Amino acid sequence: MNILVIGGAGYIGSHVTREFLDRGHNCVVYDNLSSGLRENLFKEAKFIHGDIHDYQVLLGAMKTASFDAIIHLAAFKAAGESMLNPEKYSRNNICGTVNILNAACEAGIKSIVFSSSAAVYGEPQYLPIDEKHPTLPENYYGFTKLEIERFLGWYDKLKNIRYASLRYFNAAGYDIKGRIKGLEQNPANLLPVIMETACGARNSMQVFGDDYDTADGTCVRDYIHVNDLAEGHAKALEYIKKNDKSITINLGSELGFSVTEVLETARKITGQPILAKTVGRREGDPAKLTASCSLAAELLGWKAKYSDMETLIKTSWDVYKNI
Ligand code: WQD
Repeated sequence: MNILVIGGAGYIGSHVTREFLDRGHNCVVYDNLSSGLRENLFKEAKFIHGDIHDYQVLLGAMKTASFDAIIHLAAFKAAGESMLNPEKYSRNNICGTVNILNAACEAGIKSIVFSSSAAVYGEPQYLPIDEKHPTLPENYYGFTKLEIERFLGWYDKLKNIRYASLRYFNAAGYDIKGRIKGLEQNPANLLPVIMETACGARNSMQVFGDDYDTADGTCVRDYIHVNDLAEGHAKALEYIKKNDKSITINLGSELGFSVTEVLETARKITGQPILAKTVGRREGDPAKLTASCSLAAELLGWKAKYSDMETLIKTSWDVYKNI
């Protein structure tokens, strides 16, 4: 297939592009490099430097080949920042995606895989979270993802665009074959913060709260390896093409690790002390989040393979230890 990967130079986008290339597809990456990196590009995939807000450039890119599908990963993803600067998230995540959908209609592209988020669920009402769980986002970032899911529903009905909306849990790790080494700038997520502390890029890190209702008092999350996520995109696209039917599914590991467990495993694997100071809770953090991925297993035959904590940390350390 010919695939346009929008946001393909980013952390998740580069792993997704690699997956599609490995499966023999032709990929074109479209990215404005605001957080994506040139070093995340592959020579087999043509690169178009463009912004999703520039409708004519975007439309032009969509007409450079007869594309079978768009993978859309071009979004901002810092939940905390979205609460302070909602305009930025409205503009990029909502207006930018509407541009993509409208340009796809004009260019005649009928399939889209969209990066949604577990943030659409908000505070869990039960665990593990399946796709029937109520969607009541607690942060503006999650709201933007949920709005786009609603747009997708309408474009499916009115314009016959089939979509796969993939609700990611906590993406982590690096390519198990070591082919992707681009580091996220100013990361706020747990794994890259731990890695930056382990390699000396920062002196110490903070643990946000140890008084939660969990076994060791720190928050539990479902960490999903990016290679597993990437495979989920390929299988989801195959599904919507084959069945001419849209889907909304969770992608997670179905495992839960506490912040302390992640830290301890990282200390063991890296051999570094990783200084961590416990501070107060971070606003909006639920105690525990884990995914049910039965639907992905049933519809896509997908299950996480690389999302044990050792592999998540080892593949990350392979990249960070050299900086
Ligand atoms: C994990 C745990 C922190 C940093 C985010 C998005 C969410 C979804 C998944 C994509 C929490 C703790 C963190 C630190 C810490 N993304 N922590 N010290 O918030 O669970 O989820 O990724 O759509 O929408 O919000 O991920 O990595 O920030 O935090 O103690 O320096 O680590 O409190 O318990 P989060 P995270």
